[in-house]
Amino acid sequence: MKACTALLAFCCARLFAVEPAPTIIAHRGASGYLPEHTMAAKALAYAQGADYLEQDLVLTKDGALIVQHDVMLDSTTDVATRFPGRQRANGSFYAIDFTLAEVRQLRVLERFNPKTGKAVYAGRFPAGVGEFRINTFEEEIVFIQGLNKSTGRKVGIYPEVKLAAWHRQEGQDLSKKMLAVLARYGYATKTDLCYVQCFEYAELQRLRNELGWKGRLVLLAGGKTPLIDTDDGLKEIAKVVDGIGPALSAIAEGRKPTGLVERAHAVGLKVHPYTLRTDALPKGFTDGKDYYRFLTQEAKVDGLFTDFPDIAR
Ligand code: G3P
Ligand code: CA
Repeated sequence: MKACTALLAFCCARLFAVEPAPTIIAHRGASGYLPEHTMAAKALAYAQGADYLEQDLVLTKDGALIVQHDVMLDSTTDVATRFPGRQRANGSFYAIDFTLAEVRQLRVLERFNPKTGKAVYAGRFPAGVGEFRINTFEEEIVFIQGLNKSTGRKVGIYPEVKLAAWHRQEGQDLSKKMLAVLARYGYATKTDLCYVQCFEYAELQRLRNELGWKGRLVLLAGGKTPLIDTDDGLKEIAKVVDGIGPALSAIAEGRKPTGLVERAHAVGLKVHPYTLRTDALPKGFTDGKDYYRFLTQEAKVDGLFTDFPDIAR
């Protein structure tokens, strides 16, 4: 009897994508504690019990997919001192102007304002110290899949296609390169532990309809857009994507849910808002755990991005 129950549970898990609820997505790793997108931040997020680890993706000059939030390197690395004179006319250093070999020479630092040199989050990892490096997308997948093997857990990946149209203007196709890596590492269908996210709806349509991605897709939204603000918009995008990733401000005003989660659920979309930061809470909340409880139990989001996976777990 026991064996039958176990077999049934195994078959169900294989047949249906059973998601942990609420789903905890480590935003750039455990970036509340260690410089974002470093392997150390990813390891900590994994150990803190995140269900998915996020990878923001940008390209180098020689077409390597690196895990890095900005297309510029100014705010998270020592590029200005390591490669003086390599900035564009606007004063910024772009990853796409550097080869992977050059990017590997950079030290990753806690995020700072390059104009003032000041840390963006004063209470986080100390400014200007540490020997952290930028990773490629493949290196990070190998790392996560390795941990999945050694721990027996199943932690997923959550790559974001950053500025797809801009990369194409620069002569490179980020989505195509990402899909090649995903295929190589076994991410292909909606039961595989991967969500592909993007702010550009046109790129998500391209991924689904032209490039043949059959896995899960999430439309990010930074502000007001008819695609998530109206029921017709939600109905339309539900033909292409599996979920939405709005800013937390779209989920509730103070302690009053806006109704977005209910409207998205009505058309079958999951809702994974960003970003819960215990050191940057909205008005009405003074405690990260309280905010997490509100979002998951009262506003009923399906999961969320957080810089502090331990608080959520
Ligand atoms: O991808 C979810 C969230 O990370 C979106 O904002 O700017 O941090 O990539 P950003
Ligand atoms: Ca992101």
